[in-house]
Order: sequence, then C-alpha cells, then structure tokens
Amino acid sequence: MSAPLLEFRQVGFRYPNTTTPVLQDCSFTLEAGQKVALLGLNGSGKSTLFYLAAALYRRDRGEIYWQGQRLIYQPDQLRQWRQRIGLTFQDPEQQLVAATVAEDISYGLYNLDLPTAEIEARLYQTLQDFDLLDLANRPLHHLSLGQKRRVALAGVMALAPTLLLLDEPTTYLDYQQRQQLVQALEHIHRRGTTIVIATHDLDFAYGWADWIMVLVNGQVTVSDRASHVFEQWPTLAPHLGSPILLDLWHQFPAGWRQNWPLPRTAAALAQIWQKGFQIPPNTD
Ligand SMILES: Nc1ncnc2c1ncn2[C@@H]1O[C@H](COP(=O)(O)OP(=O)(O)OP(=O)(O)O)[C@@H](O)[C@H]1O
Ligand SMILES: [Mg+2]
Repeated sequence: MSAPLLEFRQVGFRYPNTTTPVLQDCSFTLEAGQKVALLGLNGSGKSTLFYLAAALYRRDRGEIYWQGQRLIYQPDQLRQWRQRIGLTFQDPEQQLVAATVAEDISYGLYNLDLPTAEIEARLYQTLQDFDLLDLANRPLHHLSLGQKRRVALAGVMALAPTLLLLDEPTTYLDYQQRQQLVQALEHIHRRGTTIVIATHDLDFAYGWADWIMVLVNGQVTVSDRASHVFEQWPTLAPHLGSPILLDLWHQFPAGWRQNWPLPRTAAALAQIWQKGFQIPPNTD
C-alpha cells in the first residue's frame, strides 16, 4: 500500500505566549484524490491546522509527512513543500499582495521561476478559468470581498498544487459565485487535485464532500467516508448542527428510511420520494 498523500502524527502546536495548545496529539491521514470537508467549531483549530499543513507555521511536537517523507523545516525542503500545497486564507485580504488582479496571479508564477511565455500562458488560462478577464487590470482594493476570494483561489490554482486547502471558501460568495466555485472545484478535482475545505457551511459539505474530518479539542476525532459519517450524524448534530437536507430526511420514519441510500442532493431525495410512495396523479 502506498503512503498517504499527507499525514499528521501526534502533532502538537501552541501559539507563542499562550497557555493552551491548539493541536495536541493530532493524527490523521489524507489520501490522494479525496474531497474532504474539515468541520469544527469556531476556534477549534481548522485554520491553524491548514497553516501547519502548508508549513507556514512549524509544529512543536510530532511529525508531518508527505507521501511518507517527513517535513524538514529547511529552506529548500520548505520551498518544495509549499509548491505542492496551495492554501487560500480564510480572509482573502491577507492573501492578496500585488496592485492588480493580473499582477497578483502572476506574482506566484514569477516566484516559481517559470519562463515568461509559460507565465503568460498560465495567467491567461487562469483568468479565463475563473472568469476574471474583465477584472484583470482592476486594482485589488476596488474589488468586492467575493471577487477578492475568487482572485485568491485563482492565484493559488495557477501554481497547480497537488493538494488544495481552502479555508471557508464559500463565505462572501453570492449564489452564482458559489455555483461557479462548485464547478471550478469539480474541474480542479478531475484534474487530479486533492481538496480539503474547512467550512461551517454544512449544506455545502453535505453535497460536496466524499470524506469528513471533525476537529474537537485539538484532535481529529472523526475521519471517515462522508456517507458513513452522515449516516451516524445524529451523534454529531448537537455539536455541529445539521445539513438541512439531512434534517428533512430524518423527518421520515426510520423504518422507511432504512430501505434507501442517504440522499445527498435535493434531486436524489425527490427521486426516492417518487419511487417510495405511490403518488396519485394530480386530477385538479
Ligand atoms: N496568532 C495567534 N495567536 C494566539 N492565538 C491564536 C492565534 N491565531 C489563532 N489563535 C487561537 O487559536 C485557536 C484556534 O484558532 P483557529 O483560527 O485555528 O480556529 P478555527 O477553527 O479556524 O476557527 P474559525 O471557525 O473561527 O475560523 C483559537 O483559540 C484562537 O483564538
Ligand atoms: Mg478558521
């Protein structure tokens, strides 16, 4: 069996000048190709876990591995590590560094020391993929928060990471941008990128993820197939709440529900409904 894409082994981390560690004995593995939702209450350490995974922060204890290779905090190794893992911050304002959209996306590409023709080709493709051609020369401080979020994601994707960590990517997005994000993620995933999303948006996680991780008291307490986790959801609901579709599903009698797979979309629920009940034709 091949080594996991990313692995935390008993990782501990505490911010300087604080008394309580954010992560303590935190262990989990991530397999290539997964679509993971990382869930946890405010302050549970999701963003911190991302900073450690992307090697922006250094762990105090334990070890972090990429395909079985231990993370070593030395310049060459860190550079290579950070090229594999793309992270979009919870706050897009923190991520964007240049004056305009095009400059910001090119910035990371220049840092990779790519030839100019390659940078230009990737920039154009990224602007097109993320529907940013019209905004290319706009100053970043003129953009709305949702637009900034899109630019931040585009900038990271231009670098073609193997693993993408997205911290609360659906906040600030309107309905259309959210749909576009879901489409972009499908596209990115089909190209072979593994994706982890930290989110409080349970409806999004329910429809999108194939794997769920839950962070509680500095540890990953759940790491399992989404279908399995959502079948056991009543045990997590008092802690995290419920996706609306799952809430609705639990209004049906348990004896009836057990004959059907868990519906993960409204369309799947409607199909079960149609098959499971003899609905009389509307005679009005
Ligand atoms: N720079 C810092 N210095 C000290 N403590 C910090 C720092 N950044 C975060 N913390 C603390 O670390 C803990 C974990 O924060 P983190 O932002 O990782 O949580 P989170 O799960 O991402 O929360 P949210 O759901 O609100 O985004 C919190 O108690 C927070 O107050
Ligand atoms: Mg956070």
